[in-house]
Amino acid sequence: MTERCHGDTRPRARTAIVLAAAALLAATGAAFLPSTASAGTTLGASAAEKGRYFGTAVAASRLSDNAYTTILNREFNMVTAENEMKMNATEPQQGRFSYGAAEQIVNHARSRGMSVRGHTLAWHSQQPGWMESMSGSALRQAMLNHVTQVATHFRGQVVAWDVVNEAFADGSSGGRRDSNLQRTGNDWIEAAFRAADAADPNAKLCYNDYNTDNWTHAKTQGVYNMVRDFKARGVPIDCVGFQSHFNNNSPYVSNYRTTLSSFAALGVDVQITELDIQGAPANTYRSVVEDCMAVPRCNGITVWGIRDSDSWLASQTPLLFNSNGSKKAAYDAVLAALNNGAAVPTTAPPTSAPPTSAPPTSTPPTSAPPTSAPPTTPPPGGGCTATLQDSTRWGDRFNSQVTVSGASNWSVVVAVTPPQKVSATWNGSPTWDSSGNVMTMRSNGSGNVFGFTTMANGNWTRPQVLSCTAS
Ligand code: XIL
Repeated sequence: MTERCHGDTRPRARTAIVLAAAALLAATGAAFLPSTASAGTTLGASAAEKGRYFGTAVAASRLSDNAYTTILNREFNMVTAENEMKMNATEPQQGRFSYGAAEQIVNHARSRGMSVRGHTLAWHSQQPGWMESMSGSALRQAMLNHVTQVATHFRGQVVAWDVVNEAFADGSSGGRRDSNLQRTGNDWIEAAFRAADAADPNAKLCYNDYNTDNWTHAKTQGVYNMVRDFKARGVPIDCVGFQSHFNNNSPYVSNYRTTLSSFAALGVDVQITELDIQGAPANTYRSVVEDCMAVPRCNGITVWGIRDSDSWLASQTPLLFNSNGSKKAAYDAVLAALNNGAAVPTTAPPTSAPPTSAPPTSTPPTSAPPTSAPPTTPPPGGGCTATLQDSTRWGDRFNSQVTVSGASNWSVVVAVTPPQKVSATWNGSPTWDSSGNVMTMRSNGSGNVFGFTTMANGNWTRPQVLSCTAS
């Protein structure tokens, strides 16, 4: 276990946000979207078409708000619990774990084909009262138990964990932040990562912090040196999250791209995990997204809330949707930057592990396979036809695109082959049968072409359209 989980040899193939380990091109050699593919019309669709995700923080208490869930379900394909997975929420009394609100969010997301980032296993803030008053080896033990229990509980349901949050000090020291956890010994962070790795070897394990955006800042360099050291010593770390709460005191700076690419060069994925920008200037949002798209290992962006009224900094109106749910100029800028950005490469960067998954078996290598499946036959009495086409393919997953004709209000049933799993969808409203293998996609006003990402999990069979019904 210890050997297998070190550094680059951590198993990587089963999560949606992993950078493709190797090019396993379709027999057609078509690695990129066919020219007929339209640019995405939602944040999640546009990101997914580039092999990335677009997420938001979600509060369980808002899931009963229809306007909120309408935007959530339409626009995003990754979800972070805003507070519900924090230590005070999941272990309110020592040894008594409480997962109800977190599970509400996880179930909402996963039943709709969205992935989940876990936030957060260990942090100096939002600790339960019993933990705040602990110290020394008892605290270390309690922290490790918490990491183990929570990561085990959600094993297989979260693609990435913020294992440790905000452990570095602001200001010029570049060192660790003082906290009860830090006082248990400087090795508390790596101990937390090792415990998380043992509990959920397939999740991506991230370090997450704020004010680490400016490459020249001591705090950024402090985190960079820790990650470099972890990689050198085989501490299991896969990713670094940049919260990126930008405001007048800690503004966006143009060396942000240097920061992202410098961390990525250490051999970790980088993600923007809690983006909000005071006043939501469209140009700044555009720059942030362009910076991510310019870095192949920047595989996802999460904004910290949906509408301005949902924001923890509501008075700064820092998000992409107005309080009434309408799209702001920043939304259009972000969508355009996603659509104009580069797809993550389908070939591995020189530092990644060799491919471990089997090559596709569903299409014979000697003859040119069809790139689209035969359309469904309309049912008697009128209906619609749905044609499934192969789209981008990565080392561990592939996109499919379905074009519907004959109806504008349609419902298309698609089946994937276990152990395949659909990890993201766009331009439709999906529901699932109890097996999770059969998806019914309904039109949602985004046009007649919808798409989805399938995690191959070793099986490259093309998903099948079972029916198309006009309603
Ligand atoms: C914030 C939440 O948005 C608030 O609802 C809560 O009151 C405080 O925490 N960095 C983090 C997030 O990692 O967990 C914080 O979320 C914002 C700053």
